[in-house]
Amino acid sequence: MINVSSSGVMQPYTCTLTYSDGKSRTVLILDEEVPFPEGKLIVSRTNLQGIITHCNQSFIEMSGFSEQELIGQPHYILRHPDMPAVAFKDLWDTIQTGKKWHGYVKNLRKDGCYYWVYATVIPNVRDNQIVSYTSVRRKPSRKVVENCIALYADLKQKEKDTVCAM
Ligand SMILES: Cc1cc2nc3c(=O)[nH]c(=O)nc-3n(C[C@H](O)[C@H](O)[C@H](O)COP(=O)(O)O)c2cc1C
Repeated sequence: MINVSSSGVMQPYTCTLTYSDGKSRTVLILDEEVPFPEGKLIVSRTNLQGIITHCNQSFIEMSGFSEQELIGQPHYILRHPDMPAVAFKDLWDTIQTGKKWHGYVKNLRKDGCYYWVYATVIPNVRDNQIVSYTSVRRKPSRKVVENCIALYADLKQKEKDTVCAM
């Protein structure tokens, strides 16, 4: 449940996220969006397990983590509790068959704020084998973000993988 004050403003809350590898982490959630930086691309590369192997300066700045904190971590370090699991299932099902995936993602920053991206995830193929994945994120369309807010909230209603406390 989310704590909304009498003025209708969402209060900060903590949320325990359980990831697909069984690990869990308690994060602070603030209802504060950081706008996508104009004219920039946010780029990262992972191995086949989704462990971050490279990221660019815009990625570091937007996530709020240092490069040392990011490299070697699972990409779920950015997972926001408002993101439905089905979106990531679709991502992995698509890229593991060698196809590109496009989608809107709400990402969690280290400071608890969030940012929306329009992501394209590309399998990198060498000698007919997928060897890694690259994600390139662009400034999202505001109209599509508004649609995703409603759609993802609806999908999340049907999922019970997070335990939140105020
Ligand atoms: C190249 C690549 C980029 C990814 N980028 C993100 C991202 O920006 N945010 C995110 O939450 N998950 C991202 N993921 C998906 C995560 O690996 C993971 O599936 C997702 O965060 C859900 O976490 P879970 O494994 O705990 O369910 C990315 C995966 C790949 C392969």
